[in-house]
Amino acid sequence: MKVVFFGAKTYDRDSFERVNQGSDHELTFLEAHLNQASAALARGAEAVCAFVNDQLDRPCLQALHDQGVGTVALRCAGFNNVDLAAAQELGITVVRVPEYSPHGVAEHAVALILGLNRKIYRVYNRVRENNFSLEGLLGFNLNTRTVGVIGTGRIGSVFCRIMQGFGCRVLAYDPTVNTGLQLCGVEYTDLATLFRESDIISLHCPLNTATHHLVNEAAILSMKPGVMLINTSRGGLVDTQAVIQYLKTGHIGYLGLDVYEEEADLFFEDESGQILEDDQFARLLTFPNVLISGHQAFFTAEALENIATTTLQNLTDIEQSKTCPNQVTLS
Ligand code: NAI
Repeated sequence: MKVVFFGAKTYDRDSFERVNQGSDHELTFLEAHLNQASAALARGAEAVCAFVNDQLDRPCLQALHDQGVGTVALRCAGFNNVDLAAAQELGITVVRVPEYSPHGVAEHAVALILGLNRKIYRVYNRVRENNFSLEGLLGFNLNTRTVGVIGTGRIGSVFCRIMQGFGCRVLAYDPTVNTGLQLCGVEYTDLATLFRESDIISLHCPLNTATHHLVNEAAILSMKPGVMLINTSRGGLVDTQAVIQYLKTGHIGYLGLDVYEEEADLFFEDESGQILEDDQFARLLTFPNVLISGHQAFFTAEALENIATTTLQNLTDIEQSKTCPNQVTLS
């Protein structure tokens, strides 16, 4: 199949070309992000391969369809950036990689927790300047602390088990209860109780209309003063303005983000020579108790291999008119 990759980085090219050896997919890698304007670059392709910040809205899908593109292969798990209703109407098949690195993402959430708690990002700079003062570095033991996990799917369930390993009490909220986790001691509860009782709250649910701004002003006010909030899921789960307001009052004690509401214009690119135009993001960077990574939670060698293998298999399934288990449909 002829496939045009959008937003392709060298690591995408390396992993896909390696896995594609011996198969007959024709891969073209473009740096441009996919949106209505760039869709024309897919001319002649049967499929496009897109990532989290490509904009697959109705006009973009229409433009792809007009050029004969019949398949959108997402090389990621989330599909909140695709207008599925439009894709269905246009007869475009959408496939994704539902699972490629649950351990990688869960471990990164833990890295944010440990980094924030023990202020590793501050220590790194201090020690390089021969400053061995401990002032301002006080942390807390994770053991016996209560951790609230919102969404106990593939990633959330791994995260629960890791935090249990630290000796934490783990509370969970998910409309679907994982009985295996329950048997291991994870306590399912309602959202209000989770917000009220947790010292650390970590988000692992998908972004959709029901979960948009799940962490808003009311939710924050119902949390423990000094709470640590971790988001490795999707930026839109958190109302950034409200979070900034309560970082300023100290009600939020720590914030660890791997995703950000307006990340599409920032993340995955080297913007170090540019003026930062996003005032909200700039304000977040001023807090000493905020640790941000640029959507790298998934980024492990194992994940890249799995993404390439699954994406190419998805394309092969479609080419051979087989049922693809990773097809995304309107539920
Ligand atoms: P999953 O589909 O296995 O699990 C999601 C869980 O959330 C399910 O158990 C579902 O029942 C639950 N859920 C749905 N609505 C909910 C609600 N309103 N409240 C609480 N729980 C709810 O997904 P997986 O693989 O665990 O991924 C979770 C999220 O992590 C993805 O949606 C994606 O946005 C994000 N992600 C981030 C990555 C990164 O690099 N930062 C990489 C991969 C995924």
